[in-house]
Amino acid sequence: MAGRERLIAASDQVVERGKGVRFTVDAANGDWLPAFAVRYRGAVYAYVNRCAHVSLELDWNEGEFFDITGLYLLCATHGAAYFPDSGKCAAGPCKGGGLHPLETAEHDGNIYLIEQKDIFDDQ
Ligand code: FES
Repeated sequence: MAGRERLIAASDQVVERGKGVRFTVDAANGDWLPAFAVRYRGAVYAYVNRCAHVSLELDWNEGEFFDITGLYLLCATHGAAYFPDSGKCAAGPCKGGGLHPLETAEHDGNIYLIEQKDIFDDQ
């Protein structure tokens, strides 16, 4: 069964390979985790904002996730690169890891997080 939708941004706030929108998600332990959404090849992708290398947020300036080519999401700390449409590690110290994907829906000019009960908490 699909979860409840929570508004995270207006569609026009998340532009193709532009700045991402930051938001938070509730973790299983009642805490919250930082998250972000970006647009790539027309679709919105959202992930927990936590690098697979070390548990740090990716953005090099607030909301800046894409590398200069606009082809990868880049971690500012040691340069791990992730595929925007899967969150899988493309290069760098995230080898074998990936970003934790979050389900979203886009309709009526808005982007919504599909809230899940099972967002991990392995911190
Ligand atoms: S913390 Fe992201 S590459 Fe090391």
